Amino acid sequence: MVRETWGTRVGFILAAVGSAVGLGNIWRFPFLTGESGGAAFLFVYLAFVVFIGLPVLIVEFVIGRRSNRNVIGAFKELDNPNWQFAGFVGALAGFIILSYYSVVGGWVIQYFVSSFTGAYAGDAAAYFGQAATGTNAIVAHAIFMGLVAGIVAFGVRDGLERAAKLMVPSIIALLVILAGYGATLSGSSEAYAYYLSPNLDTILSNLGSIAPAAAGQAFFTLSLGMGVMVTYASYISEDRSLLQDAGTIVVVDTSIAFLAGLVVFPFLFTQGVEPGAGGAGAVFISLAAAFSSLPAGGLIGAVFFFTLGIAALTSAFSILEVVVSYVIDTFDVERRNATLVLAVIIFAVGIPTAIDLTWLDVYDKFANNILLILGGLLMSLFIGWVYADQGVDELTKGGPSKGLATGWLWVVRVVIPVVLAYTLYLGATEYWAFLMETF
Ligand code: PHE
Repeated sequence: MVRETWGTRVGFILAAVGSAVGLGNIWRFPFLTGESGGAAFLFVYLAFVVFIGLPVLIVEFVIGRRSNRNVIGAFKELDNPNWQFAGFVGALAGFIILSYYSVVGGWVIQYFVSSFTGAYAGDAAAYFGQAATGTNAIVAHAIFMGLVAGIVAFGVRDGLERAAKLMVPSIIALLVILAGYGATLSGSSEAYAYYLSPNLDTILSNLGSIAPAAAGQAFFTLSLGMGVMVTYASYISEDRSLLQDAGTIVVVDTSIAFLAGLVVFPFLFTQGVEPGAGGAGAVFISLAAAFSSLPAGGLIGAVFFFTLGIAALTSAFSILEVVVSYVIDTFDVERRNATLVLAVIIFAVGIPTAIDLTWLDVYDKFANNILLILGGLLMSLFIGWVYADQGVDELTKGGPSKGLATGWLWVVRVVIPVVLAYTLYLGATEYWAFLMETF
């Protein structure tokens, strides 16, 4: 069903990168890194990206290209009840993620507008406080959600994808400029030490909280665990190497997140802000301060937040698409109706996160550290143990040798289930403790 919605031949890589690159790279990654102790988090995250994220991305690609369907269709075809459950997990994750993703998208809209009015130029932290919660946040959330729903319901996707073509180079260029500026600041050496030199003891003694957060971020930023990449892969032709395409996406996505850290931490340290203290606002506060101290900062800020807004829209679009397809498939309703009704419900569900940022954490940890990991685990078990021969066969088309594909299969069969099951256990324990402490 999703296939019909992708009428024209949109570059597959473009769509997949459009989904991957978003608020996860620029907002969520630096904020989690700051909260979880800097370099210790960065290195565990990178390990998850390479050893778990990349193989799981290939799992989703293999399912998508092989079955030629969206994720729910693929499960249906196989008539396996566990698969239907995986579809449900993915749709639920998407539902929750989009509800607060749109709130943060609303922040981006406000910062874009304020780049012209200069509203964040004064006290950056105070500005964040009034943009991120309350009426402003709810209104902006409604606008963002409306844009996403419009794109999904009325199919103005082509224009968006064309805009996305410019998005990745612009984001990289802007981040490089800002990172260069950050390097000149007084707090930069302290920031680099914090961000780049890990301490093994710190990693080991905090693994119980770092591992689920790093795994959740790896899945979130690569758009894994929900079947987004399954859908996109059903458009890849058989002569393309799935390994190569997956590698490209991982490298682009990870570089952008890494660069965002190089921008954010020098600014935080220079302003004397504890990297963990900024919380969800860290990036917005430090960037706003950066833009207001730069010559022509308002203009740079406007370009930056505009680009980030496009990045957020292409990601949000891919999330809503999963939820909408699930609902269409399960309840047999019309696309446009399903989209509009879901958009309203998701908007309402997101409202608490626009009132109190604690709710954002409650939603975010549950969806990423638990649901996405569970989704990835189920898909890996499926390819590893049920669909293994077809999986290897599919991967070798247009690409890697049989030996390499078999190596991948064993990682998917054994390493990933063990690591993800354990991470899921850690994540659930941590989440429970977090809930107890919060409520
Ligand atoms: N990858 C997107 C980002 O980093 C978010 C996303 C998560 C998109 C899950 C689709 C699925 O912003």
